[in-house]
This record gives sequence, C-alpha cells and structure tokens, in this order.
Amino acid sequence: MGAGMTQTPPKTYHVKSFGCQMNVYDGERMGELLAARGMTAAGDGAEADLVVLNTCHIRERAAEKVYSDIGRLRREDGTRPMIAVAGCVAQAEGSEITRRTKAVDIVVGPQAYHRLPGLIDDVVAGREAVDTDMPADSKFDILPGRARRSAPSAFLTVQEGCDKFCTYCVVPYTRGAEVSRPWNAIMDEARALVDAGACEITLLGQNVNAWSGEDDAGRPQGLDGLIRALDRLPGLARIRYTTSHPNDMTQALIDAHAEVPALMPFLHLPVQAGSDRILKAMNRSHSRDSYLRIIERVRAARPDIALSGDFIVGFPGETDAEFEETLSIVNEARYAQCFSFKYSPRPGTPAADMEGQIAPEVMDERLKRLQATLNVHQLAFNQASVGQRTTILLERKGRHPGQLIGKTPWLQSVHIDGTSAAIGDLIAVDILSAGPNSLAGALASPLAA
Ligand code: SAH
Ligand code: SF4
Ligand code: F3S
Repeated sequence: MGAGMTQTPPKTYHVKSFGCQMNVYDGERMGELLAARGMTAAGDGAEADLVVLNTCHIRERAAEKVYSDIGRLRREDGTRPMIAVAGCVAQAEGSEITRRTKAVDIVVGPQAYHRLPGLIDDVVAGREAVDTDMPADSKFDILPGRARRSAPSAFLTVQEGCDKFCTYCVVPYTRGAEVSRPWNAIMDEARALVDAGACEITLLGQNVNAWSGEDDAGRPQGLDGLIRALDRLPGLARIRYTTSHPNDMTQALIDAHAEVPALMPFLHLPVQAGSDRILKAMNRSHSRDSYLRIIERVRAARPDIALSGDFIVGFPGETDAEFEETLSIVNEARYAQCFSFKYSPRPGTPAADMEGQIAPEVMDERLKRLQATLNVHQLAFNQASVGQRTTILLERKGRHPGQLIGKTPWLQSVHIDGTSAAIGDLIAVDILSAGPNSLAGALASPLAA
C-alpha cells in the first residue's frame, strides 16, 4: 500500500489514544468526526478498516509505543487496516514516520486533525497524506458538534499549547503556542455535553489556568470567570480543571475554590522537583518556596483540597542532595496523588544536550524512593476518608459482577457492590475501607432525584 496505490474507502474506524487527557479528548473528537462522515466504530486491533493511533511524545517509551502497535495491526490474511498516526508523535516526526514504516498511510498533527476526512480521501486516491500544519483556522470551528451521548464525566479542552518551554519538555513544540478557545464556544460545548448526559466536566489545557478571554458581555475573564459561569449551568454538578501551572495560579482562581460550589476540591499543580537549582535548570520559573506559598493560599481558601502533582527524577545534573529536596517537598505538600517519571531526554529539547545525564540505575532507585514516599501520603489521605459519608459520581462498571466505580469530590475511586444505582448517578456513600489506590464504600441514600 502507501502512496501511489488506491484503496477502498474505510467504513469502520477505531481510535486508540496513548497520551494525556487532551490527547484523549482529541481522540474522542476524531471519533465523532469519522462518525459524522458516516463511518461506524469498530473494535480494537486490526478489525477496523481505519485505525487511528493517537500518539504521545512526552517520554521516549510513550513515543516508541506507536511503532510496536503498528506491527500488531497486521491481520492473519496478511492485510492490514488503513493506519493514521495522529497526536504529538505525528507532529514531532512528521513524514519521518512514513519513511520509517511503509505501513502508515496518514500522519496528522494535533492541530490539523479536523482535516482527517480529506486525508482519508487522499489515501483512497493514492496520494500522500501527511499534515502537520498548525493552521490559522481553528479545528474547533470545523469539527462537528459533540456526540449525542456523553459519559457522566466529560473532558472539554479550553486552552491548548504552551509558552513555558521547560527545558525537558516537547509540548511547546508539538502543541504550539498558548491559545485560549473563545468563551461562547466553550459554553456551547459545555451545554451540549450536559444535554448529552454529562454531569461533570473537566476543563483541559496544557496550562489550563492560563486561559483568558472575554465573556458574552465583552468583559475580560480568566479561568475563574469561566468556572463561575459554568457553575450556573443547570445539570452540571461538578467542575474540574487540569493541568495548572504554578505561575498562572491567580488569587481569583484560588478564591473560586472557596466560593464556587460545583468546583471540586482537587488541584493538580505539578512542581517537578524540590531543589531550586534544578527548578531553575528546568526553566520552571517558580521556586520551591513560591510553590509552597501558593499551596498554602489554596489550603487557606479550601482546607479540604486534595493536591496532586507531577515529578521528574534524574534531571541532568541532579545530585543525591537535590533529589532529597524532592522527597522533602513531597512531605511538606502532602499530596493525595501524584505522577512521577524518570527523566527522558527528548530530541530537540535543551535538557537533552545538558551535561550530567543521570545513569538509569540511579533514576530507578530515586523513582522507587519517591514513589514510596508518595504512597505514604496517598494512603494516609485515603485512610482519612474511612468512616466518612461523601458523594460519588458513578462512572463505570467494576471488575466484579454488580460492582460500580465512582469518584469522590477528591477524585478517589470508590467501589460499591450490589447497588441499585446506575452509572451517571450521584449518590451518597459511606466509606468502609481504603487502600493506596481506591476506597470501598456502601450506598447511604440516593441524593440526586
Ligand atoms: N503542562 C503540564 C504538564 C504536561 S506534561 C505542566 O507543566 O504541569 C506531563 C508531565 O510529564 C510533566 O508535568 C512532567 O512531569 C512529565 N514530563 C514532561 N517531559 C518529560 C520528560 N522529558 N521526561 C520525563 N517526564 C516528563
Ligand atoms: Fe511542558 Fe513545562 Fe509547558 Fe508543562 S509548562 S507543558 S512541563 S513546557
Ligand atoms: Fe503527550 Fe502530547 Fe499530551 S506529548 S502528554 S499527548 S500534549
């Protein structure tokens, strides 16, 4: 196959997303776009006529996953589906991908995927289909409306791109400059999601708290204004946002945590490391202390807030003593959950060329120690919930028959057994027991009518 040979138009599709929540959101929108074209969703693997691999470039392992997946898409009869590589690997590697493997038909970046139908037509006609433009016309203006049915908890991208240029990170290159979607487009999409059954919306952005815009009366607004307007949407019970950057954590947004009932008491605020020298080398533009002071203000506004973060161990030049400072900031901040990663040198980023790259064994050992420390706090946070009554939004089935899983306001997963409640219900539960990753609960009494 490949350029020059015509193909039959695909009738079924499967989208597989590998990356962050914004990547998952993009995957949903691509699915909706293909459905609007009259295609139907098919199962995993090579079953579909078109498989979209919606990739992530953030760490080497994430980026390499796509190539092993392509290999797995061969069918028993020797044929394979039409394959589109979308997402951040597509943006970073472009036509390198079609050069490296002949099995890929389409390469489309995260800002160009609204052009997917045209690219499919190109492949069908035997033309090359690589599109990594960052076009001036916004994909959001061209994508079809949201699907008629939504999961109880839905994602809504409000901001894209990053101007921060942390020295280890590919996002500013794969996603481009910071752009905020207009107020009305966001409000319309939120309404459509609620009409489709969503009762929780998570506002997404690479730096979501850098969102800025004007409301329908032309007044300048920040993310806090957007959250306050969404709080007034009938039927929307819960609002979340992620990921935030410490430098964009305004007092107005912190105040919203004290004042807006639907805004959930959860904040994902990555710090990455605890040493000022490393933070500087990372170009994080906040210090250990300024970060901890933000957290103090957030806790003053919303004492029960659950904090979450991201950490990188083994940044070039990180000494044992500097790593200890990461452990100590974890102990000071007391996170309810966290993501921690070994530093992965990414092509084209300044840190990849820095001296003092850390040996893999050292990174392994640091990651293990960091995760043990994080787990202590996560377990303590969960155990403090035992005996409490709280509200959960039921989102999916559990592993055992009759079991359902829902989320607390603090984003903990709660398993309940043998309930008459259904997915999408907001119910009161009593927390019975806690582990490091989830809680067990029992139905108290139905809350929402
Ligand atoms: N915009 C967000 C994070 C986006 S990437 C923020 O600044 O908080 C998600 C996480 O991946 C980052 O917070 C960081 O912890 C991790 N990450 C990014 N680049 C990485 C790299 N080269 N190696 C290891 N982890 C990385
Ligand atoms: Fe990457 Fe830093 Fe931007 Fe986050 S703020 S996306 S870590 S460059
Ligand atoms: Fe990955 Fe791109 Fe998200 S690199 S983390 S999918 S912005």
